[in-house]
Amino acid sequence: MNLFDVYPLLDITPVKGEGNYIWDENGNKYLDLYGGHAVISVGHSHPHYISRMTDQLNQIGFYSNSVQIPQQKELADKLGKLSGCPDYQLFLVNSGAEANENALKLASFVTGRKKIVAFKKGFHGRTSAVVAVTDNPKIIAPVNETSNAVILPFNNLELLEAELKTNEVAGVIIEGIQGIGGIHVPADGFLVQAEKLCKQYGTLLILDEIQSGYGRSGKFFAHQYTSVRPDIITVAKGMGNGFPVGAVLIAPEIKPWHGMLGTTFGGNYLACAASLAVLEIMESENLVENAETVGSYLIEKLREIPGIKEVRGLGLMIGLEFNQQINDIRHVLLRKHHIFTGVSGANTIRLLSPLTLTKDQADTFISALKSLI
Ligand SMILES: Cc1ncc(COP(=O)(O)O)c(C=O)c1O
Repeated sequence: MNLFDVYPLLDITPVKGEGNYIWDENGNKYLDLYGGHAVISVGHSHPHYISRMTDQLNQIGFYSNSVQIPQQKELADKLGKLSGCPDYQLFLVNSGAEANENALKLASFVTGRKKIVAFKKGFHGRTSAVVAVTDNPKIIAPVNETSNAVILPFNNLELLEAELKTNEVAGVIIEGIQGIGGIHVPADGFLVQAEKLCKQYGTLLILDEIQSGYGRSGKFFAHQYTSVRPDIITVAKGMGNGFPVGAVLIAPEIKPWHGMLGTTFGGNYLACAASLAVLEIMESENLVENAETVGSYLIEKLREIPGIKEVRGLGLMIGLEFNQQINDIRHVLLRKHHIFTGVSGANTIRLLSPLTLTKDQADTFISALKSLI
């Protein structure tokens, strides 16, 4: 059987990871500034992560959500405390798209409405309701097309209000910082005003923190740079450091009923062990603070380099936009300097390193970049 060929692949086979580095099968060592697409939060193969996962596997690997799983409650408590959302409720799933699907469904259940507003350059996943609110017609199949999805220009409050005034909108979904669209931080005041409008028209505000959450922005959630308190927050990526897990954080005003949402694998023992290990490491190693400190340092240094059109982002979620295509720069970074980076469109390099990045490693990247632009 052949693999279904949907990914353009780099000709590299990682066989080992440790901290912020990975090694290929020829023993070449690479600095990982891509974090496996914003997934590696606490570094590769962290000893505490490995021992927590191994211990759990040695006890019990899986049972369904029909029994007591105390690790879920432990995770809810720890996540509530570290994220500053102790009064929210937690629904555990397996991926980012699934978290957003459930968020949209909840908004619709709560309001009795059908429409969802999202924004240009936004990405919310590839499944049915969330791909419809993703601004990329190439990945929307005819079966996903729906008039319930409204995509507005980012940061445009006037058009948002006009849409909300119809009283047909269940939820507004916004990325804490737009990731795939090229690292765009919401304009000053936009989230606060959007929250105000949502409240005024009885619409739920959903913050998609799947890429920008879990410390990446230098705060636990990127929207915490503002005073906004979303009705629903979605997370995944960095949550399990590579173990597939996602979650919906739900404000206390939203009341559940049995059967409202459900999942077979969501919240399984291993997902909880991975998620708890990540939070424990983030807490003991002060990784949110590290993302803020090293990220601010990196952004400042990058802004001093002539030849980069614009440096955008917060913490360790950074976009470098160039006037030219970035294929050659990324190729040399990888092949000559052994540095992994991400991409967004033809002109933007995306940095999504583990939250454990050090200033020395940031300097290594800066020197490499300076040498080739
Ligand atoms: C902001 C955002 N939302 C949702 C998703 C979808 O997550 P997943 O690929 O885990 O379904 C992504 C993935 O890149 C994302 O960046």
